[in-house]
Amino acid sequence: MQSKEIHIPISIYLLDELCANDQELMQAAIEATNRSYAPYSHFSVGAAARLKDGTIITGTNQENAAYPSGICAERTTLFYANSQHPDQAVITLAIAARNERGELLDEPIPPCGACRQVMLETQTRFATPMRILLYGNKGIYELQNVGDLLPLSFSAATME
Ligand code: THU
Repeated sequence: MQSKEIHIPISIYLLDELCANDQELMQAAIEATNRSYAPYSHFSVGAAARLKDGTIITGTNQENAAYPSGICAERTTLFYANSQHPDQAVITLAIAARNERGELLDEPIPPCGACRQVMLETQTRFATPMRILLYGNKGIYELQNVGDLLPLSFSAATME
């Protein structure tokens, strides 16, 4: 038998320890949580994407009475960014969430599996690493690459 370990490097910052650009992006994600449409889960998620040219695009989760028809904040944001700016890589994606009491989460918000897969597609499409910032009151996780969120991932390369 052989074994393998996968090492995932994560840097942890408080908000005021982030560089000015990342603070601005995270603040945009936090503000976006207030524009979430989450009448069913009462879990409000905001995301903010920094494009290569510096533009910031935000998005929120959008729920539906027919539950599967809703969509997460990360996919809202990336699909909109990629639709409006198909030639601009997303270089950083910041994510924040509030619980049903309106409080920002203490622990870093973990993106769902479908969103991780969509993040990977965006990163691959532009052949540019996409940094991920996950907001938590106790610490903001920074991952340098979507691959760190989705080890052993399936991508177009798998089919070649
Ligand atoms: N949600 C997101 O928007 N992003 C995540 O990373 C996790 C979950 C949304 C989907 C749904 O509207 C609500 O949070 C509860 O799952």
